[in-house]
Amino acid sequence: MSSEKKAVLFICLGNICRSPIAEAVFLNLLKQRGLTDKWIVDSAAIGPWHVGKGPDKRARSTLEANGIDYKHTVRQIRKDDFSQFDYIFGMDDENMENLKHQAPAGSKAQLHLVGAFDPKGERIIRDPYYDSDDKGFHKCYEQCVRSLTAFLDQQSK
Ligand code: 4NP
Repeated sequence: MSSEKKAVLFICLGNICRSPIAEAVFLNLLKQRGLTDKWIVDSAAIGPWHVGKGPDKRARSTLEANGIDYKHTVRQIRKDDFSQFDYIFGMDDENMENLKHQAPAGSKAQLHLVGAFDPKGERIIRDPYYDSDDKGFHKCYEQCVRSLTAFLDQQSK
């Protein structure tokens, strides 16, 4: 790996459920591998509704249940994210359509679905926000662990 930092941004609709889980999982994988200082990691929302808030209670409890300490304040994606980050990850096809639509011509960031790296082939991380329980959050966590482990393995090859 080169000495220059790589930068990754996780995106979802509200930045309170899926992208905070993805960011926390990725930060935890970096910590486990001693790579924290080699990466810049952030997450952001497509929409403005929750700017300034913290993650959904169910996202926080899912991370806590997996021993991950995480804090985040919601922000909305900006045009300059497309030139600051090497990778921008979305969770579902709607996220990807939105990112492609917003990306300025010739921008640096590679746009990918997190699930594109899932060795089990589950492409989409479903939005669990309107669920009445936290099962979708735990499922999101597992999908992020599988996919981001594979992504990171690929980066260190
Ligand atoms: P997320 O879930 O995109 O995974 O953070 C959502 C959170 C909030 C809303 C939609 C999805 N919302 O419409 O407020």
